[in-house]
Amino acid sequence: MKNYQIETILSTNRKPKPDSAHLEFGRTFTDHMFIMDYTEGTGWHDPRIIPYQPISLDPSSMVFHYGQTVFEGLKAYLSEDGKVFLFRPDRNFNRLNHSNARLCIPQIDEELALEALKQLILVDRDWIPQAEGTSLYIRPFIISTEPHLGVAPSENYQFIIIMSPVGSYYKEGIHPVKIAVEQQYVRAVAGGTGEAKTGGNYSSSLKAQEVAEKVGYSQVLWLDGRENKYVEEVGSMNIFFKINGQVVTPALNGSILAGITRDSIIQLLKHWNVPVVERRISIDEIYQAYKDGVLEEAFGTGTAAVISPIGELLWKYEKLVVNSGEIGKLTQELYDTLTGIQNGTKPDPFGWRIEV
Ligand code: COI
Repeated sequence: MKNYQIETILSTNRKPKPDSAHLEFGRTFTDHMFIMDYTEGTGWHDPRIIPYQPISLDPSSMVFHYGQTVFEGLKAYLSEDGKVFLFRPDRNFNRLNHSNARLCIPQIDEELALEALKQLILVDRDWIPQAEGTSLYIRPFIISTEPHLGVAPSENYQFIIIMSPVGSYYKEGIHPVKIAVEQQYVRAVAGGTGEAKTGGNYSSSLKAQEVAEKVGYSQVLWLDGRENKYVEEVGSMNIFFKINGQVVTPALNGSILAGITRDSIIQLLKHWNVPVVERRISIDEIYQAYKDGVLEEAFGTGTAAVISPIGELLWKYEKLVVNSGEIGKLTQELYDTLTGIQNGTKPDPFGWRIEV
């Protein structure tokens, strides 16, 4: 890490904290934020923690026109004895740099980003909720700020971290969600930006989600963009199926996001000697497993979604009800173990939990 000095300007106007029993995902933000600028020729400079505030940008800033932007999502947890933990935060800043590379955004110093995050969390420590199922969601992101309408990589950027106390991402909480398999639209193709965490992947998913929501489904399950046949991801989470005793998840193929929760679940299953494979898996195979009565469980994984059981898949007007619409035994064990590692109530044999 270069020898950066992170300046801190504290807010004199603290906001009231929301009721931790009724937290909506990403609606309220803490008192402070981190910000750092990039200027072509100088590099990243002026890392600082400042009061949470609007940012002022020229209307011609490139991010508004061509979407050159990346983001991450991770969480801080408050343990019962008052310790603050992060879960594999190095992986998030590493993935941010992978997304940067894909979007022609300059690399950040991962060590500096982690140090800045730790300092920011300590400044806003009393915003971390402690009620069961709550945490402080952290959103690092980078935007291109050069005022220029030419299509080219920007010469200026801002790297910002904001934080929001959250409960469950889905209104269902740990209760199974219903997901519609998307047939009309595609999210990504190999060679595109599917494996980068960039805003465009999410804005292009809104139409399908809107249609699905109208008929009572929380989100859509994306199939591959080439053959419309192989299962990819849900958009806010990766997907796993338990079929006939074996756990299967789509292999990373360039258009699927390499989820950190996804990787943790694979490692956890291997540690438990539960058979788990990453491979291409077609929707027809899922349908057949359902028909044969061997589609035992389905769940999504993600930072925001944690482990979300899937109780129903809509595929071509047919409702595939998984495990009678109830959370499966393995899904529950994974949820309990992962959240226990994250919040410090369970041992962490992997060294994933970092104390701030
Ligand atoms: C996360 O899980 O942190 C994500 O980035 C998903 C998000 C789009 C809500």
